[in-house]
Amino acid sequence: MESKVTVTSLLKMKQEGKKIVMLTAYDYLYAKIADEAGVDVLLVGDSLAMVVQGKENTLPVTMDEMVYHTEMVARAAKRAMVVGDMPFMSYQASVEEAIRNAGRFLKEGGASSVKVEGGAQVSKLIKALTTVDIPVMAHIGLTPQSIHKLGGFKVQRDEDRLISDALTVEDAGAYSVVLECIPQEVSQKITERLTIPTIGIGAGSGCDGQVLVIHDVLGLFERFVPKFVKQYAQLGKKTRKAISQYVREVQEGVFPSSEHTYK
Ligand code: KIV
Repeated sequence: MESKVTVTSLLKMKQEGKKIVMLTAYDYLYAKIADEAGVDVLLVGDSLAMVVQGKENTLPVTMDEMVYHTEMVARAAKRAMVVGDMPFMSYQASVEEAIRNAGRFLKEGGASSVKVEGGAQVSKLIKALTTVDIPVMAHIGLTPQSIHKLGGFKVQRDEDRLISDALTVEDAGAYSVVLECIPQEVSQKITERLTIPTIGIGAGSGCDGQVLVIHDVLGLFERFVPKFVKQYAQLGKKTRKAISQYVREVQEGVFPSSEHTYK
């Protein structure tokens, strides 16, 4: 088996020009499949509030729920590195509380690092976490936890602010940064200026890696499909069809047939 992906191997991948593949995962089964398929980084994203829990946005998911899902994913990940996404209000109130919560991802969840949203405003926090040996993936551009301040899921175009945020989080000690919903030209500039790897979502092909939500990749999340999403399968439609057939066959007495019956 190939050795486990680490923060240092991700940096090496950037240096060697190898693209980093990141995907979200929320449970053992899908994490195992993604790990076996060669995904480098499994992000237990707070997007689970939307795609698993059916909430309107990412704000309601709790620390306990995130740790619960992270533990399942970490148990499945043999090669991929597992990142726990710090949920809304788990790191904003104080640095001390943030350190305790980030520590839970590593201690109880089995993750190797955490992700926090924000640029300059979380630089002190990134420094504090790295000081206690908790590696941090930063996340700038469209930060879904700020949806009420940003006024919706919109492309972020303030180039000077984006570049300055990227440089600040690198300087603070982040080992990588997610660039969400920003123009390709800007993400390309950021990627060239940073030593740490950039992972894009809706940020074009110039990043060092890409991340998508697994429910989007598999066509399972049907409420809306952002422009940057490519559906590699239509599992929503396929699942509906399979379950409808099961319903029909039970109702009509077709299932179970003798093939599925003990003699
Ligand atoms: O929560 C999440 O899934 C994320 C990624 C989409 C970057 O933050």
